[in-house]
Amino acid sequence: MQVVIVDTPAEVGRVAAAKITQLIRRRADAVLGLATGSSPLAIYAELARQVREEGLDCSAVRAFALDEYVGLPPGHPESYRSVIRREVVERLGLTPALVKVPDGTAEDVVAACAAYEQQMSEVGPVDLQILGIGSNGHIGFNEPTSSFASRTRIKTLAPNTRADNARFFASADEVPTHCVTQGLGTILGAKTLLLVAQGEKKADAVAKMVEGPVISMCPATALQLHGDAIVVVDQAAASRLTLTDYYNYTYANLPAWQRFYDPTGPR
Ligand code: GLP
Repeated sequence: MQVVIVDTPAEVGRVAAAKITQLIRRRADAVLGLATGSSPLAIYAELARQVREEGLDCSAVRAFALDEYVGLPPGHPESYRSVIRREVVERLGLTPALVKVPDGTAEDVVAACAAYEQQMSEVGPVDLQILGIGSNGHIGFNEPTSSFASRTRIKTLAPNTRADNARFFASADEVPTHCVTQGLGTILGAKTLLLVAQGEKKADAVAKMVEGPVISMCPATALQLHGDAIVVVDQAAASRLTLTDYYNYTYANLPAWQRFYDPTGPR
């Protein structure tokens, strides 16, 4: 796992976006895994800037969202389908037909999950999966004790996840109790994993993910099983890591072929 520690939440976005831009400039029709939540917003903001100011073209990019709430009416502003359209598709100029989100409104959720896996296997593998991390160590909506072999399926949201996400809804009761999420096995199938975290609230989960034992109680430890996982965090989210000096030394001495971010580039 490559751990990159930067000073500010905005820089987390710029560094992570640089990795994505490098991919899209190499392959215009790259397959991206999209995440929601507040953590990746800084990435999408930086990519939107590059689209506006530097001619980055995302129109051929294909994308799969990680997860979706179950039971929100179609078009609900906090459904992840709506969030992805608002924050990613429209701002980055993705082609809507190339962007897939799990179906949280299907009558037969099990069949919808299987269909999503099928679509992913036809278009994929995902080249780069963007990830945030929950304060309880979840990725996607894979709550603690999720199987490392899991595929896209329905999950019950943990009470603390519902509480964390209540800020997006008018009241805590409105947060759905269930979701559909790519499984940890699905996520591990992406060629590159790029996880971002900002703020002290994530420090404990980040420390467990990077330096703790691989354990389903912290689903994000699945990243330790992946051969190309990059974790970009700000100082606050990194504050409980113990090998900080090593990560900083490693990043400062990356071989040229591994570098993807130019700190002197445009802001
Ligand atoms: C959400 C999403 C995750 C996200 C996580 C953290 O509920 N399902 O994909 O990474 O929880 O959210 P945030 O980035 O808002 O802290």
